[in-house]
Amino acid sequence: MIAIPVSASQEYQVLIGPGLLDELGTQVRAISMARTAALVAGENVFSLYGQRARASLEAVGFRVLCFVIKPGEESKSLAEYGRLLQFLAENRLTRSDVLVALGGGVTGDLTGFAAATYQRGMGFVQVPTTLLAAVDSSVGGKTALNLESGKNQVGCFYQPHLVLCDPLLQKTLPEEEYRCGCAEVIKYAVLNDEAFFERLRRIEIRDQLEEVIQRCVEKKRDIVEEDEYDRGKRRLLNLGHTFGHAVEACSGFTILHGHAVAIGMVMVTRAALRKGFCSQETLRRLLEILTQYGLPTEAPYSHNSLLQAIYADKKMEGNTLHLIVPEKIGRCKILPLGIEEIGDWIIQEGEE
Ligand SMILES: NC(=O)c1ccc[n+]([C@@H]2O[C@H](COP(=O)([O-])OP(=O)(O)OC[C@H]3O[C@@H](n4cnc5c(N)ncnc54)[C@H](O)[C@@H]3O)[C@@H](O)[C@H]2O)c1
Ligand SMILES: [Zn+2]
Repeated sequence: MIAIPVSASQEYQVLIGPGLLDELGTQVRAISMARTAALVAGENVFSLYGQRARASLEAVGFRVLCFVIKPGEESKSLAEYGRLLQFLAENRLTRSDVLVALGGGVTGDLTGFAAATYQRGMGFVQVPTTLLAAVDSSVGGKTALNLESGKNQVGCFYQPHLVLCDPLLQKTLPEEEYRCGCAEVIKYAVLNDEAFFERLRRIEIRDQLEEVIQRCVEKKRDIVEEDEYDRGKRRLLNLGHTFGHAVEACSGFTILHGHAVAIGMVMVTRAALRKGFCSQETLRRLLEILTQYGLPTEAPYSHNSLLQAIYADKKMEGNTLHLIVPEKIGRCKILPLGIEEIGDWIIQEGEE
């Protein structure tokens, strides 16, 4: 088992190891004297792994309650959040009890926000079951709900008390979800690790899953420890996301997040090339690895629709947007852009 300590406003460990799901009870017991553990999971994940999680928690004496949600972004809603809080209250959970999120980023974001706010904060454990959740959303303490007006509009920073990652759970992950996670893994490599990038070229991610999760969690940990509240360095994690979110929005959210991030990384690198921040080689290598992992690199949206979607994304701080720009594979910079400059950074294929 690999144990990665995280030292943010809350100190906790990210445990990674095959078969760890059956140790869930023991590991949660080691950090919590709770009487009750409430397990939150999507329908699919619950039917695959819910009983094992439950049995493991019961074996060490927890009273276990299960709250099953519908899969998909719709569950990150105020309504579902309200139902979850109501469920906790009806079952008389207290702030000394613990909420366990078993699932991907949707389950983790909803459960985290409920754990942060129910009685002003209760125990919270993440058990990521997607590659994206393992390398990204389960670590770092961002919790979120969606509003009609946009994704992740409500939320707070609330670090988990434990993250328990069993890579074997990802064996049942649909292929497209795996690929989405791969886009985020590639993002970490482009950000600050050329050797890791080359390794991902040589060895398929699923064939080195544990090592890849470890490397990515360590990278995210280092950034979060320096900038937990996303005022500086943590912005780097947005590589490919400014344009990626615009692509997602233009597609009416039919393009999956990881696919959109892949396209977004290509868009920003193409613009960086044209503006002299990186070389043709950087773009070529990025296109090559994304293609190798079966990820898309282009989207058919007009300059104007993408620009409108960026304006609507509410990521602007005043009139400034922080764009993450590759200088080479393994090095990126944060570039503050004025609102009037953004349009100039949206460059379609063939224009470079
Ligand atoms: N909090 C953060 O820092 C952060 C970071 C990145 C993304 N996010 C959020 O994460 C969400 C996306 O998360 P995601 O990509 O994990 O998607 P997800 O949670 O929607 O899961 C994807 C699908 O895979 C299924 N699934 C999950 N694990 C499975 C398994 N082991 N076997 C079979 N099926 C499984 C789920 O039922 C679901 O249908 C978005 O809402 C995004 O905003 C949050
Ligand atoms: Zn992402």
